[in-house]
Amino acid sequence: MDNIVILDFGSQYTQLIARRVRELKVHSEILPWDTEAEEVRARQPKGIILSGGPASAAAPDAPTVDRALLDGSIPLLGICYGMQLLAHALGGQVGKGSRAEYGASTVRVTASGNPLFKGLPGAFQAWMSHWDEVVRVPDGFTVQAESESGAPAAFSGPSNRILALQFHPEVAHTEGGREILRNFLFDVCRCEESWDLSSWIDQMTAEIKTQVGDGRVVCGLSGGVDSTVAAVLTSRAIGDSLECIFVNTGLLRKNEADSVLSLYREKLRLKVHYVDASATFLSRLSGVSDPERKRKIIGETFVRVFEAKAAEIGGAQWLLQGTLYPDVIESGFKGKGASVIKTHHNVGGLPEDIAFGLLEPLRDLFKDEVRAIGALLDVPREILGRHPFPGPGLAVRCLGEITTERLQVLREADAVFLEEIARAGLYDSMWQAFAVLLPVKTVGVMGDVRTYAEAVALRAIGSQDGMTADWVRLPPELLDRVARRICNEIEGVNRVVLDVTSKPPATIEWE
Ligand code: XMP
Repeated sequence: MDNIVILDFGSQYTQLIARRVRELKVHSEILPWDTEAEEVRARQPKGIILSGGPASAAAPDAPTVDRALLDGSIPLLGICYGMQLLAHALGGQVGKGSRAEYGASTVRVTASGNPLFKGLPGAFQAWMSHWDEVVRVPDGFTVQAESESGAPAAFSGPSNRILALQFHPEVAHTEGGREILRNFLFDVCRCEESWDLSSWIDQMTAEIKTQVGDGRVVCGLSGGVDSTVAAVLTSRAIGDSLECIFVNTGLLRKNEADSVLSLYREKLRLKVHYVDASATFLSRLSGVSDPERKRKIIGETFVRVFEAKAAEIGGAQWLLQGTLYPDVIESGFKGKGASVIKTHHNVGGLPEDIAFGLLEPLRDLFKDEVRAIGALLDVPREILGRHPFPGPGLAVRCLGEITTERLQVLREADAVFLEEIARAGLYDSMWQAFAVLLPVKTVGVMGDVRTYAEAVALRAIGSQDGMTADWVRLPPELLDRVARRICNEIEGVNRVVLDVTSKPPATIEWE
């Protein structure tokens, strides 16, 4: 299978480059920028892409690429910072531009001969994000395009083995970006289309079979896409040697435990052990209001409950996890020094010293690829199209103290909101929608009676990846209906408010 290595210099778009390459049916993998040439060559890449990044290429300690990769034996494409770094490393000059260029800009092709521009018009809109620019290209290199500010927008070296672009072909706003990447992959690197998800399934099923042999596997199911797809794939490989565990934390949405369980058992034919641990979770959470403590308690309790059940089932040597490629990249090298905004405890998260071998069949895949594989494996839309739900569940949406009664109010309010969103046909158009129960009592009036009850906040957001998000402008009639229904149908709530903050500055969940 042909492979493209992407060296990451810290751009927010690095993962997007990897996805675009895979969309063109060529496998891609991301490595940190300081990976040694030998290690890069061991991956047998047909081409290397140098990503963008926040640094200045001419700065003394700027990240750079192992010089042994600069001989052109493997084709190179530098994007944005990658371009400047190539210019600098090969003897050209990089400096501060006359002005920064951020956003859409017109790129004009000024000379022929750059294979990346095959089939593109002479001028097109491209996404720029730079202050530095290439002032002089290295000897033997030629410039074939310029940006609105007159900066070189593309150059290439002898025999077109080393190419560079100032703009981002991976971003949807760049017209012809896909064509440019296609030209790089198939004309310059001579890749073949070989990344194909149905053959991936066959290959992975065989691999799981070999790896597990006669052994047994346990897995925690959460009702989410990743753990479900991992389980369905694995059960295809080893059948009933896969023992799934579904823990009811008491923090699930209305009817969730029942509906997920019957889906797993009846539609997906998985062998599922159900553990109702609601009482344990609720008693450990009793009196706790601090969000980080809630998360910690839930994480620890989950692990304990899961381990106890796994021990009771007995005989398993493997733990199956739905880890995805972004998690691997993050924990591998991106997360260094990043501040912890929230402690994420995923249901199914594992303790460090667990006595199982780890099975992570999805660790090479992006979320959209997992969805596509799920569809090929006949995982129902109810699961593939579901909004993300945090591991700690309703605990982080029930602000203040968690009690059975307050959870019940929250569950009902959430169900009303989601029901109306689904009825309006809007469910699939958003990233997430949910209700939050606030620990704030306000005065109201119902009939002739004064009430003093809690408030519910509604949050509906749109997002590509959960990293940034904007609130959804829901139709006022819908909001009106939801507010009326919540106050009329649910005892204990007399006020409904709407959350109109984006992320940043707010996070998606309230806790
Ligand atoms: P925040 O609140 O950090 O959420 O903006 C970003 C996305 O992550 C989800 N989320 C979690 N998912 N375990 C999870 O599996 C967690 O502890 C957790 N906390 C937040 C959140 O729903 C949103 O989609």
